[in-house]
Amino acid sequence: MPGVKRFISFEGIEGSGKSTQVKLLAEHLSAAGRTVLETAEPGGTRIGNKIRKILLEPQNHMDPLAELLLYYAARAQHVREVIYPALLKNTVVITDRFTDSTVAYQGYARGIDLSVINTLDEIVVPDMRPALTIILDLEVEEGLRRNREARKEDRFEQETIDFHNRVRQAFHQIARDDPRRVRIVDASRGIDEVARDVRRIAGELWP
Ligand code: TMP
Repeated sequence: MPGVKRFISFEGIEGSGKSTQVKLLAEHLSAAGRTVLETAEPGGTRIGNKIRKILLEPQNHMDPLAELLLYYAARAQHVREVIYPALLKNTVVITDRFTDSTVAYQGYARGIDLSVINTLDEIVVPDMRPALTIILDLEVEEGLRRNREARKEDRFEQETIDFHNRVRQAFHQIARDDPRRVRIVDASRGIDEVARDVRRIAGELWP
């Protein structure tokens, strides 16, 4: 597979179960004797978590460019403080969201030109493509329903169904554009079934 060895990202719409699947894959790889770091965006660092608060507070009415730059500010800190150093120590890094989220949310869904995002990407995280990206896919309505049940109500949960459908379609497009790196997993099924698929796909990284 292409991309940075031992670097795996999970992507998907709201309520797709990423954090659960990140945790299960991390446990599986740890049990197999690998050193694993679980992390998430926006966040993963003290500064990143402060930026996350600004990004997700429902009462913040944010300019789309300000939003984009804050995601990249958090990412710059995350990559330099956490991800690079871990990869240098042979640790497997599994992140809950990375640049594909920016392409999907700020690019396809908000309408920021993809060339602006690609330029920022080259500046902030040059050559930092994961070796494997797993997109957990399910119906938008079902994802939002799961999050309501879990009482997760951040700034993005308030967006329209249309917005979330654009995000979902964007992830499909990203998978079509880069099929060697990106794999779609049906996340409408039970946790264990999804986890089995994820383990099988991740196993291809270490044939
Ligand atoms: P989470 O709910 O998966 O923790 O992610 C936080 C929110 O941030 C989620 O609604 C998706 C959004 N997001 C973006 O809009 N752009 C990005 O680059 C990232 C990493 C997340």
